[in-house]
Amino acid sequence: MDNISTSGPIGIFDSGYGGLSVFKEIQQLLPQYDYIYLGDNARVPYGTRSFETVYNYTKQCVFKLFDLGCNLVILACNTASAKALRTIQQNDLPPGKKVLGVIRPTTEIIHNYTETKKIGILATTGTVNSESYKIEIQKFHPEIEVFQHDCPFWVPLVENNEINTEGAHYFVEKDIQELLKQSDEIDTIVLACTHYPLLLPVIEKYVPNHIRIISQGPIVAKSLKEYLNRHVEIENSCSKKGLLAFYTTDDPRDFENKAKIFFGKPVDASHISV
Ligand code: DGL
Repeated sequence: MDNISTSGPIGIFDSGYGGLSVFKEIQQLLPQYDYIYLGDNARVPYGTRSFETVYNYTKQCVFKLFDLGCNLVILACNTASAKALRTIQQNDLPPGKKVLGVIRPTTEIIHNYTETKKIGILATTGTVNSESYKIEIQKFHPEIEVFQHDCPFWVPLVENNEINTEGAHYFVEKDIQELLKQSDEIDTIVLACTHYPLLLPVIEKYVPNHIRIISQGPIVAKSLKEYLNRHVEIENSCSKKGLLAFYTTDDPRDFENKAKIFFGKPVDASHISV
C-alpha cells in the first residue's frame, strides 16, 4: 500500500520533447505508477551549452519535480545525464530523493548488441565532448571500440516537428555518413540523445541494413523496473494510481500538439516556471 504522506509520482525530465521517447516506454512497461513529465522547452537545446549551464538548468528542473512531490526523478536526457547527474547525485540531493540517468543503463548492456565490438554513438555535442559513453563503455566492456559523431541539427528538427522534411533527410544522411566513415566495422549505432528516436523513420533510410539501431527507451524502462524491484524503499515511495501530468516551461498548447505525436496519445499540459 502507498505511504500517503511520502509517496509521490516518478518525475521524468528532458530539455524538451526527447524524453517522451523514453517516457512512452516506461509508462507502457510500468503503467501502475504516477508520473510527471517536465520538458524545459523554453531553454532547449541543452546539447550546445556549457557544463555549468546544463548543470544549473537540470538542477532547477529536478528540484521543481521534487517540489511537485516526486521522490525519484529520471533524467530522460543524455546531455543532462552526462553533464549534471553525477554532481547532483553527489552534492545536491535532499534526504529521501533520488535521480537516475540514461547513460549507465545503456552502456551496461551494449555488449549484447555488437559482434564486431565496434559501435557508433550519435549524440549532442555536449554528450560527445563529455566522452561519457567512451568512459562508461571502457569501464564495463574494454573490448568495445567506440566511434562518436555529434548531430547539432537533429534536436531543433524534432523540437520544430520538421521530421519528414527535406532538411531532416539532408542532415540525417550527412551525419550518419560522417559516423560510418570512421570505421566500416561498426555494426551497432546507439541513438544517444532521447530526441533522436523521434527521427527513426528517416534514420532507418540511411543506415545500412546490417547495422543495428538502438533506441534507449526500452532499455531505460527495463532498467527502471529492475531498479524498483531491487530498491523496495524507493518503490514504496512511488505513488500508484496510474496518473500522468505534463509540464512545459514554454507554451502548453504547442506542447500538447507536438507531444500527442511523440507520445502517441493526447496529453494535457500546463505551463511551469522553474
Ligand atoms: N534529449 C536530450 C539528450 O538526450 C537533449 C537534447 C538537447 O537539448 O540538446 O541529449
